[in-house]
Amino acid sequence: MSERQESLCERHREFVPLIAAIDKVEGELATGSALLIRAETGGLHETLSHELIPHAVGEGRTLFPVLRRITGTDRETREMLAEHREIARLTDELERIRDELSRAGIGAEQEARMRRVLESLKRAISSHFEQEERACFQVLKEELTPEEAERLYEAMERATKEIRRTYGCGGGRDFDP
Ligand SMILES: [Fe+2]
Ligand SMILES: [Fe+2]
Repeated sequence: MSERQESLCERHREFVPLIAAIDKVEGELATGSALLIRAETGGLHETLSHELIPHAVGEGRTLFPVLRRITGTDRETREMLAEHREIARLTDELERIRDELSRAGIGAEQEARMRRVLESLKRAISSHFEQEERACFQVLKEELTPEEAERLYEAMERATKEIRRTYGCGGGRDFDP
């Protein structure tokens, strides 16, 4: 496998610390410090809206059309786009609860809601990466030449950067796969 074909798959490894960061915030929920939790979830929201969501939109515009062409069906990309939307929705919900924390402080209700949204995010992100790596990258690796993989990788990177510039501050609200 060429370096670029490898790179198409390696993008997700950058997000491994995100799962660890979600676990950390979950652990801190029990401390009940609204200030600490607000700061930590602020960092999470930043990574989700500035890194993960632009990556997802970039994929939707570059990788997925190639996958549809190769497989001759939109079944998998439809599922993956629905997962992208779910991750964006949860990102917005995280920000809403974070906002409430600054006004109402942290009570049992906020803690439970925050825990639910963090758990859902973790599940959605992990299962999405698994599916994407299996379905998407496996097909791409087998069907693309190293040169095609290189061009696709560059197109995805360009699209991701462009989206980060355009939507970077809007969280999931401006999400448009
Ligand atoms: Fe991805
Ligand atoms: Fe994705």
